[in-house]
Amino acid sequence: MTNRNVGTIVLGIESSCDETGAGLVRITDGAPELLGHALASSQDEHARFGGVVPEIASRAHLEAMTATVRAAFDNAGVGHRDVGAVAVTCGPGLAGALLVGVAAAKAYAAAWDLPLYGVNHLAGHVAADTLEHGVLPTLCLALLVSGGHTQLLRVDDLADSITELGSTVDDAAGEAYDKVARLLGLGYPGGPVIDKLAHGGNPLAVRFPRGLTGPRDAPYDFSFSGLKTAVARHVEAAERAGRVVEVADVCASFQEAVVDVLTDKTVRAATDLDIGTVVVAGGVAANRRLRELAEQRCAAAGLTLRVPRPGLCTDNGAMIAAVGAHVVAAGGAPSGALLTGDPGLPVSVVHVVGETATWAASHQRSTHERSATHPLRHPHGS
Ligand code: KG4
Ligand code: ZN
Repeated sequence: MTNRNVGTIVLGIESSCDETGAGLVRITDGAPELLGHALASSQDEHARFGGVVPEIASRAHLEAMTATVRAAFDNAGVGHRDVGAVAVTCGPGLAGALLVGVAAAKAYAAAWDLPLYGVNHLAGHVAADTLEHGVLPTLCLALLVSGGHTQLLRVDDLADSITELGSTVDDAAGEAYDKVARLLGLGYPGGPVIDKLAHGGNPLAVRFPRGLTGPRDAPYDFSFSGLKTAVARHVEAAERAGRVVEVADVCASFQEAVVDVLTDKTVRAATDLDIGTVVVAGGVAANRRLRELAEQRCAAAGLTLRVPRPGLCTDNGAMIAAVGAHVVAAGGAPSGALLTGDPGLPVSVVHVVGETATWAASHQRSTHERSATHPLRHPHGS
């Protein structure tokens, strides 16, 4: 990694789902430092629907964006003149929600004459860990577990080389938490409440299935929809028989099935590929039992485990500033004025490359200039 932008402060903007986030990160000699960040959430507005309603999320981002960015600057104790670049989540995520963040980032970049970097939300989750534990080793394995994604990633370089080794074939781990919480009548988001209730339950009460763990199953892929169905059948059977559903036991047993598979496959991948460091990232990485079992199993296998603090695991703007800062430090090219949101942006595209140095400059150039390596992607394009 070259450090061509020593001491650059990057503003990061996040709006891919139901959290509006803004963060400020300074990168010096390749090492990122979190200066401050701010968050606004529309989770309460989605709770009665049992999941995120895209239109509500977009509207909430629009209403919260400028105040959140202002709050991040206040929190960091810097002004916009101190900032050297703007980074924004351009995918994956909800189309309308992404557009709000991208439009805001373009406006800030244009107004302050700064380069604009469209970055990958999933890379952001991994980058969040560098805000707490410093630069990653040259090679590490990341388990990314969020509401929309569950992936095992080989991370050779956070700024531009992330390869998917396996992923969920159906529901994401966070999605399974949210769906199980919904069927137990626990509201949205399901992860935090199940995490809490499971604490007082017996994880051995019900032996729920462990998806894709047979000898002939893909070793690095995951499946959680069968588990969710098994929980539903269990609850239905109890209700039919007139038995009280022991919610804490169901939560603990469901959670144990999720984290057992996640940690088992992660340790197996790291061992198979001879990778010594494991990063667990994404909203589900805030889970207490996942953190505990990952710690135990990584220690037993001689692996170094890194997990960001819970507040940096769930969506936030600091993680987007962090991935932007790594791209800036590596001398990555800005995205330019054609940047748009891509709901299906693959994790291998860490940042979307344009041809020009600043939004203002790019605006005056041909609108057809595209990078050969990472062309600008369009919604639904991947
Ligand atoms: O990364 P994230 O904030 O947003 C996405 O990119 O999806 O992850 C949100 C997901 C939700 O499904 C939520 O239920 C789950 O992370 N989550 C948790 C916990 N906190 C959040 N899952 C399990 N335990 C938690 N403590
Ligand atoms: Zn996320």
